[in-house]
Amino acid sequence: GIPKFVKIVEVGPRDGLQNEKNIVPTSVKVELIHRLVSSGLSVVEATSFVSPKWVPQLADAKDVMRGVCNLEGARLPVLTPNLKGFEAAVAAGAKEIAVFASASESFSKSNINCTIEESLARYRAVTRAAKKLSIPVRGYVSCVVGCPVEGAIPPSRVAYVAKELHDMGCFEISLGDTIGVATPGAVVPMLEAVMAVVPGEKLAVHFHDTYGQSLPNILISLQMGISTVDSSVAGLGGCPYAKGASGNVATEDVVYMLNGLGVNTNVDLAKLMLAGDFISKHLGRPSGSKTAIALNRM
Ligand code: HMG
Ligand code: MG
Repeated sequence: GIPKFVKIVEVGPRDGLQNEKNIVPTSVKVELIHRLVSSGLSVVEATSFVSPKWVPQLADAKDVMRGVCNLEGARLPVLTPNLKGFEAAVAAGAKEIAVFASASESFSKSNINCTIEESLARYRAVTRAAKKLSIPVRGYVSCVVGCPVEGAIPPSRVAYVAKELHDMGCFEISLGDTIGVATPGAVVPMLEAVMAVVPGEKLAVHFHDTYGQSLPNILISLQMGISTVDSSVAGLGGCPYAKGASGNVATEDVVYMLNGLGVNTNVDLAKLMLAGDFISKHLGRPSGSKTAIALNRM
């Protein structure tokens, strides 16, 4: 059976916007986060404390945090690639963070400029520092099925990195199909390998929709016992260091499917769509959500 409740982790303001070339004003980011929270989402990834040279779009991380510091009713985690980012995030008021490792050696190099082992050593330092401040840390594994350079990634590699993140104290591990090549045929063996070393209730799935496979991938993950799903309003996204990857699965489409399955999310689809309209209008292009396009026509 599938879970009765699914926690959606909204990653639009971070994973979505990080790939936008034109700088989105801080005030728009702040309003987007407010709208997402008021739709009922309980976790909204707000921004990243990464190098502004690597991700110029998120150079205003501190200002975004100032704009959301009085927001209640949701957790607003931020990405931190190292201790420097962690310290900046804490100084800006972050109460929850995420670290991001990769199952692909090549992607680790291109995304965070270090090997997988070097990244795990950095993240051990970050999780140790976070523990002292009682700050919960989420861990990401990227390229869990495929990598733009290395091609197919063996499930054992993914399980290894996921277990390391779990062992260092990450409360949740999000498994990212960064370039969106997964099909359910690849998701099953990957999840089987990871679930052999990390309990399923600590796992989340994070799909990008390059080949239109996100919803079947999510459905099969739910059938395997996963109950946390990452998604991005209006299907925003892509990764600046994963060429050709398209946006995350749209939150509206996930909520529509879950509503149809009778799975509770606490998200109000109509309010969520207004948040999607808001950011799509700002970006000057149609929503990447099929649900939003269909319902807006009615
Ligand atoms: P580096 O160049 O190797 O860093 O970058 P460094 O330690 O050699 O320092 C170089 C400069 O960066 C120094 O400044 C540092 O102070 C500065 P300078 O002396 O030249 O003026 N620096 C920083 N500045 C601000 N914040 C920091 C920071 N750290 C160092 N935290 C680094 C290494 C990790 C910093 C860089 O590669 C980076 O920022 N990468 C982040 C890239 C990124 O955000 N990618 C997208 C997110 S991952 C993703 O999308 C996948 C995911 O969605 C899941 C999925 O889809 O699968 C999570
Ligand atoms: Mg992503």
